Amino acid sequence: MYAFDVGGGSKTELYRDLTAAADALTAGETDGVANMANLAALLWQYLPDLNWAGFYRTVGFELVLGPFQGKAACIRIPWGRGVCGTAAASGQTQRVDDVHAFPGHIACDADSRSELVVPVLRDGRVVAVIDLDSPLPARFDAEDAAGVEALAALVAGRIE
Ligand code: SME
Repeated sequence: MYAFDVGGGSKTELYRDLTAAADALTAGETDGVANMANLAALLWQYLPDLNWAGFYRTVGFELVLGPFQGKAACIRIPWGRGVCGTAAASGQTQRVDDVHAFPGHIACDADSRSELVVPVLRDGRVVAVIDLDSPLPARFDAEDAAGVEALAALVAGRIE
């Protein structure tokens, strides 16, 4: 069992502690699936108001479902489709306040109202995306995006 002291008060502290916990859990472990599984668990445990948290991995020109927490989800997402496919194809974080207003949004869980998808870049390639869904509208702000981007940068070399 691992216990982490995450998120004393501010969102800044939450992401600082979450990133430190992610570093401690994945440093020195070479199995990418194990690392993604623990990272999904950390995101799920410490970020409030989520209904889905996990990874899609780049396989050819598709994203394929990776380790996650939440309801069973769509398995394959073509490059460029939905919020995840857009993040992968553009290499840019997608922060969506209202998923119903996002053209092509793929509804895996009808409860989802807002979404944050951060590409994980390794040597200029999008090797995966981190996908967070919330039942609350506009759940994710710029600080969430920056926090998850820092996490993605940290783990980019540890999830393949
Ligand atoms: N909503 C995502 C699909 C993945 S699920 O949210 C887990 C999308 O539009 O890409």
